Amino acid sequence: MTYNFDEPVIRHHTCSVKYDLRKEIFDNKDLIPMWVADMDFRTAPFIIDSLKRRLDHEILGYTYHGGEYYNSIIDWIGKRHNWKIEKEWILFSPGIVPALNISTLAYTNPGDSVIVQPPVYFPFFSAVEPHKRILEYNQLKEDDGQWSVDFEDLRKRASKGARILILSNPHNPVGRVWTPDELKKIGDICLENDIIIISDEIHSDLVFPGNTHTPLASLSKELAAITVTCMAPSKSFNLAGLATSSIIISNDNLREMFNKEIANLHIEKGNIFGNEASIAAYRHGAEWLDQLLAYLTKNIDYVIQRCTNSIPLIKPVRPEATYLIWLDCREMDLSPEELGKFFSLKAGVGLNEGSVFGPGGEGFMRMNLATPLAVISEAFDKIENAIKTL
Ligand SMILES: Cc1ncc(COP(=O)(O)O)c(C=O)c1O
Repeated sequence: MTYNFDEPVIRHHTCSVKYDLRKEIFDNKDLIPMWVADMDFRTAPFIIDSLKRRLDHEILGYTYHGGEYYNSIIDWIGKRHNWKIEKEWILFSPGIVPALNISTLAYTNPGDSVIVQPPVYFPFFSAVEPHKRILEYNQLKEDDGQWSVDFEDLRKRASKGARILILSNPHNPVGRVWTPDELKKIGDICLENDIIIISDEIHSDLVFPGNTHTPLASLSKELAAITVTCMAPSKSFNLAGLATSSIIISNDNLREMFNKEIANLHIEKGNIFGNEASIAAYRHGAEWLDQLLAYLTKNIDYVIQRCTNSIPLIKPVRPEATYLIWLDCREMDLSPEELGKFFSLKAGVGLNEGSVFGPGGEGFMRMNLATPLAVISEAFDKIENAIKTL
């Protein structure tokens, strides 16, 4: 079956964070929203059908995760990521961000340090600081559009007694798919220094041809023993509103510590629709996802060509994964605040301003390309016109 990603779907007045909070977030209710990471594409029909079938039963009582929920996750991760996991390793979390916060509570004490690698998805920071833990920045290196880990700096910070490292694999916002070699180096430093790795792999299904996602924990038994892996169908299949994700921990001790927090909060059972959608996505989603990735590749190609040809002040970094593109706007020579306002108020396009992703993000903007190409083209018309007035 061929899926149509060009079809516009009106999302206004659906309590959509992306559309219906534009006034609050950007002070511009009419801008083209290309910020928060969800997609403007219709949810796949096999997922909608499974939800409708469940609704036909007409009773929505307490629920739990049945065997098929776990088996569909195990099969998907086995086939898609070549990682053999066991049912007992899988815990439920109502989202990855909650799982990051829970990890901080489970594995660290107030005053402990947590390593993050900015510029990075900013809820990594709020999973640490409000709990009175200390952020340790192992800033990524950038060289002519190529982003990499500063291993020397990581080694230094790791030896100072950090308890956990929160890894974005693939990395949001720079779009890197870390290679097995890079992951092994990160892992070895953590092993040497007794650091637990929280590997946020929410974008692992959104990897473009030519790149391969490696679950960090699949690299060796030793690394599996210090890794908490976070995966979900939410980014891949646009199910964020169903708050359903998996935390995979093979180390019994680490799993028990995580589970204790989840069970204490009584949030381990999830919700009926998240369960159904997750099963449908993982059982039937491979073809849809491959078509989505092909569509997103065209969107990325368009942005790179458009900037190269007519907006050279903006240099997009081609993502190896994720539908988020990291735009290098440093040549526009604007402060972070001016840059944010330029896009949201002058151009009328709502992006995430780079400095919120921490050190190294200044001068960049993050744009969400999971939208029909016609919308992207319109957004770049607006950006090009606004740049002419600079
Ligand atoms: C790296 C990363 N982790 C987590 C999330 C959000 O996870 P959740 O909605 O499951 O809390 C996002 C969303 O953009 C993300 O990019």
